[in-house]
Amino acid sequence: MPDAAPAAAASRLAFFEDLHPSTSDFRADVLEGLTKPQKAIAPKYFYDAEGSAIFDRITEADEYYITRTELALLDRIGPELAKMAGPGAVVMEPGAGSSVKIRKLIDALDAPAGYAGMDISGEHVRAACEALAADHPDLTVGAVCHDFTRPIDLDALPLPPALSEGCRIVFFPGSTIGNFELIDALALLKTLRGWLRENDALLIGADLRKSGEVLEAAYDDAGRATADFNFNLLTRINRELGGDLDPEGFEYVAHWNPYRSRVEMYLQAVRDMDFTVSGRRFNIRAEETIHTENSHKFTVDTFQDLARRAGLVPRAHWTDEARAFSTHWLVRGPEA
Ligand code: AVI
Repeated sequence: MPDAAPAAAASRLAFFEDLHPSTSDFRADVLEGLTKPQKAIAPKYFYDAEGSAIFDRITEADEYYITRTELALLDRIGPELAKMAGPGAVVMEPGAGSSVKIRKLIDALDAPAGYAGMDISGEHVRAACEALAADHPDLTVGAVCHDFTRPIDLDALPLPPALSEGCRIVFFPGSTIGNFELIDALALLKTLRGWLRENDALLIGADLRKSGEVLEAAYDDAGRATADFNFNLLTRINRELGGDLDPEGFEYVAHWNPYRSRVEMYLQAVRDMDFTVSGRRFNIRAEETIHTENSHKFTVDTFQDLARRAGLVPRAHWTDEARAFSTHWLVRGPEA
């Protein structure tokens, strides 16, 4: 029985649903992005298996305060969250990634009934959910490979009863909401609001505005994890889309834009280059950039205003002592 071990591990998952976007989406989006006057690639394409692993390295970088601050905050507010959710809660996590934060939440809650992790990297979410299921035999755990920026019909998923009943907490930590243009963040909050029923909650992290110096260091760590994260996009395009981009012809740049309250990330060409992607020829001039990501920073008020505009009602929020990061408990209000 050579494959008995993987089958046994997989069987701990209540279900695995593969709704992965096709390579043709990646190709179409990259070709379109490279044709724009400001070349751009959507940050969701960072997260192949390699990119997800590099992201885990970012979260451990000294300069990247976000993950450790949010984890400490979740530790502190755990008992309050447990009281607000009540026993038997079910957690759904779009963009689940590695399972460090969900473990804090699951451990804090009062006898949680189920967890569904969703992520664009199928391998990553499956492995993380299998590990969580192995450590929590009483928890019903499922995994979905899904791009949460796309619509999903939760009612059409094969959710076992333990994952469809009970107070639902949609958990969206990390300040991933900040990676969207504000108009898209609003649309995403509206989508997540649609996942909530009465008495359910969206538990969401929002990083707070702070000095440009701290922010630029957080997004350009000395260990080059963030730079590697960006260069992996080029490697991925070369591998999956038959590209011939020369990573040595680029340098990684992170820039705090105080007017738009966001860190902007780019791959900047160091010389003029011609390159091919999927049989199409492109040209980039020295100093021209490919925009790879934004990370918006909020105040508690600007974030709550955005939430209200999405039809979500702030019920509670918490920040760490230094007011670096905030976590919000939002409930479904009348449609905005
Ligand atoms: C996933 N997201 C919250 C990260 C952030 O802080 O904006 C993505 C990231 N990109 C570079 N470093 C971290």
